Amino acid sequence: MGMLTGKVAIITGAARGIGQATAELFAKEGADVVVADVADGTETVNKVKAAGRKALYVKCDVSKPDEVNKMVEAAIKEFKKVDILVNNAGILRDKIMWNMTSDEWDLVLNVNLKGCWNCMRGVVPAWRAKAKEDKTFKAKIVSVSSTSGTHGNFGQTNYSAAKAGIVGLTKTAAKELAASNVYANCVALGFIETDMTRETMLSIGAKTPEQGFQMQKQAEIGMGRNGIIANQYPAKPIEAAKVILFLASDDSDLINGQCIEATAGWKM
Ligand SMILES: NC(=O)c1ccc[n+]([C@@H]2O[C@H](COP(=O)([O-])OP(=O)(O)OC[C@H]3O[C@@H](n4cnc5c(N)ncnc54)[C@H](O)[C@@H]3O)[C@@H](O)[C@H]2O)c1
Repeated sequence: MGMLTGKVAIITGAARGIGQATAELFAKEGADVVVADVADGTETVNKVKAAGRKALYVKCDVSKPDEVNKMVEAAIKEFKKVDILVNNAGILRDKIMWNMTSDEWDLVLNVNLKGCWNCMRGVVPAWRAKAKEDKTFKAKIVSVSSTSGTHGNFGQTNYSAAKAGIVGLTKTAAKELAASNVYANCVALGFIETDMTRETMLSIGAKTPEQGFQMQKQAEIGMGRNGIIANQYPAKPIEAAKVILFLASDDSDLINGQCIEATAGWKM
């Protein structure tokens, strides 16, 4: 029996990276998965199916409430219920504050923070109704924050604000939804080696992602899992997915309204 046997999970931003790793892991643990992404989710759908579970891809921009509501409707139509929401979709538009445009601020806040709120608002009405009629009802929200939100990060005023906002949103959602037995937690990831971080390394002026990783500070090594120093072993999406799995599963029933830093000690 898997950790999520019989569950249905919506995972935003699941077309690649951490979201895709989470979708595949959830499927291996027995969950059917709704892959909600602006990008094509076929690859992830195939991975979920290969793990023996059902998958539904819904093209959805999380910053647009109408698209989110339609995505949730499609999920409930297909699977009759949703047990887990993983708010993972995110983008970067890094620039030092005085070069950052107002549009770049708005875009990052709209996708990374308002996107989480839109998705919560999308699933919550069905959950509240279900909780009223079924006393055994339980649901879990796991949102993906970042150490940029909990500690700040040079060049990321927009992203830091959005990711810090997720922490406050999570705590308030946990309070508002506790009576419906809905949990809300978030995970503040450190460095995970994905397309997103590779693209960022190039945007800070490195010739290669590897050179970019070297440019980061030695003082932030922690357990040596942030992959920015030569010969370190960078954390992989599957390792982030395992933390998300824990927070989405019954094993974390004593944890609510929390932000768990998953950095192997980086920036602790
Ligand atoms: N990689 C890291 O080191 C790291 C660290 C901390 C936090 N995070 C967070 O983890 C999450 C996943 O990051 P990743 O590294 O896998 O990134 P990624 O760029 O590889 O994947 C992000 C996914 O989100 C999707 N997406 C973007 N905008 C969207 C929108 N408006 N609506 C729906 N989907 C959208 C993309 O199409 C993509 O599939 C993000 O929230 C990111 O901020 C990543």
